[in-house]
Amino acid sequence: MAMVKKIGLLTGGGDCPGLNAVIRAVVKAALKDYQMEVVGALDGYEGLVFPDKTMPLGYEQVKGILPRGGTILGSSNRANPFAMQIEKRGKTVTEDRSADAVKRCRELGIEALIIVGGDGTLKIAQELKDKFGMKVVGVPKTIDNDLSATDVTFGFDTAVVTATEAVDKLHSTAESHHRVMFVELMGREAGWIALHSGMAGGADVILIPEIPYYIDKLIAKIERREKYGSKFSIVVVAEGAKPVGGVESVIDHPDQPWQLPRLGGAAQRVADEVSKLSRKDCRVTVLGHIQRGGSPSPFDRNLGTRLGVAAVNLVAQGGFGRMVCLRSRNIESVPLEEAVGKQKLVDPFGEMVMAARAIGIDFCSASDARE
Ligand code: F6P
Repeated sequence: MAMVKKIGLLTGGGDCPGLNAVIRAVVKAALKDYQMEVVGALDGYEGLVFPDKTMPLGYEQVKGILPRGGTILGSSNRANPFAMQIEKRGKTVTEDRSADAVKRCRELGIEALIIVGGDGTLKIAQELKDKFGMKVVGVPKTIDNDLSATDVTFGFDTAVVTATEAVDKLHSTAESHHRVMFVELMGREAGWIALHSGMAGGADVILIPEIPYYIDKLIAKIERREKYGSKFSIVVVAEGAKPVGGVESVIDHPDQPWQLPRLGGAAQRVADEVSKLSRKDCRVTVLGHIQRGGSPSPFDRNLGTRLGVAAVNLVAQGGFGRMVCLRSRNIESVPLEEAVGKQKLVDPFGEMVMAARAIGIDFCSASDARE
């Protein structure tokens, strides 16, 4: 098999700390080990569809980017070459521009694509492979850590550090004012950030999408704490948390069927109910995109670097249609079709939830017994 001479690289979906580590590793490994050129596509798949949205990537472009959050290539969670939203005569229309993406790659001499993204971005990569035979290699990314084919995604560790700091800081002010503090964290369908930072930050209650909550159990927990002398409580709420029999708190519905609704207001909703039913003094903090920003932790820098190098090695070996991943501390790869569409959710009866329960953290579910 002839060696690939030029790789295209893009980062798609919501950004996260560690993306620049991947970009740097891909560029360095490609140049040093294989003398392959690397072209970066800007703003996710937009870079493959629209003209003048690519840049050559060499040592100069990746200098000093390792500790930087975000992605020097830009990202987009709206760009999908199979359903591109395009402005035409003042109107937004949706067009299939996937053939343009393939044509552009050919024009640029790109023989293989390394696509860094979450489930949505990697599904598109798989479609490009299936429909056009594009040579693609996926690199998993999401702060939510909800991709089942990899033990952990880079970005998650940094997000947990940021969220834990926030939970830590809320303790003192909660205690001073005898308040119930709610902190809303990211996690649409998977409550990993809330679970990990809630446990690390010593939260009293953690509400996650996988374990629907009862509001009366939450009030009972706060009152129990007061009875035993703790006149404040810290409640960590994942953005996708929902009451038993209820739905997520949605603030905006997407205009494309493949886009996800924007979540928001989950913590405020719980706080409003608690103050209405119990007259407790409640305050809400929404951490939002702070969790996606900032310098990546050493763990995320190293995971991003290892995955970037592994992706280049896979290209060199002709291992297309696969995604690199971390399994039991080793970097491996899996077929893309095995990697996408399968979410890794928190097991409500798994070891971590049971450990949290054992130390008195309440999930306010049917299984959380009243004392
Ligand atoms: O990356 C996933 C995620 O962090 C979700 O938890 C969150 O709902 C979403 O991104 C928000 O993304 P954006 O505001 O960029 O659309």
